[in-house]
Amino acid sequence: MAVQRTLVLLKPDAVQRGLVGTILARFEQKGLKLVALKLRQIPASTFEKHYEPHKERPFFAGLVKYMSSSPVVALCLEGVDAIEVVRGMMGATNSRKAAPGTIRGDLGMSFSNNLVHGSDSAESATRELAIFFGDKSELCEWSPVTTPWVYNVAEELS
Ligand code: RTP
Ligand code: MG
Repeated sequence: MAVQRTLVLLKPDAVQRGLVGTILARFEQKGLKLVALKLRQIPASTFEKHYEPHKERPFFAGLVKYMSSSPVVALCLEGVDAIEVVRGMMGATNSRKAAPGTIRGDLGMSFSNNLVHGSDSAESATRELAIFFGDKSELCEWSPVTTPWVYNVAEELS
């Protein structure tokens, strides 16, 4: 168990479909702490860096074009095992195959327009957060009053 930070992107389809509030509410209700949030149309060059591990894949160019075509919401979320928790909440990459109860499973029908990105490892989270929140002043260092009720502090946070 470790307190982790993860990068979440609400993709262009989530913003265009008016699902930002719905998806953000799921993360808030789960108990994840919001550390940073911004709405931006982000240049392709930034997504080329972000998706660099996929640069040899056939879908890379289309993915970069799609992600930069319209605004996205970038979030930094924090919590115990936050990376795995967020990945579980997202569901499988193909929204049609994603389990009911997950964001993609409940809200999407597409492989490419799959609503949400979440870092897939601690290394990815560090790398991706540096890309989207390199300016540390955008990260809010705060202590939600709910933390001692979301967690058993002695067991999980000490
Ligand atoms: P993400 O990186 O966006 O969090 O999604 P993921 O881990 O579930 O999926 P990943 O394998 O990392 O692929 C990144 C994104 O590329 C698009 N994709 N399209 N058409 C295709 O074959 C294909 N494969 C991947 C998806 O938008 C996927 O989320
Ligand atoms: Mg991925």
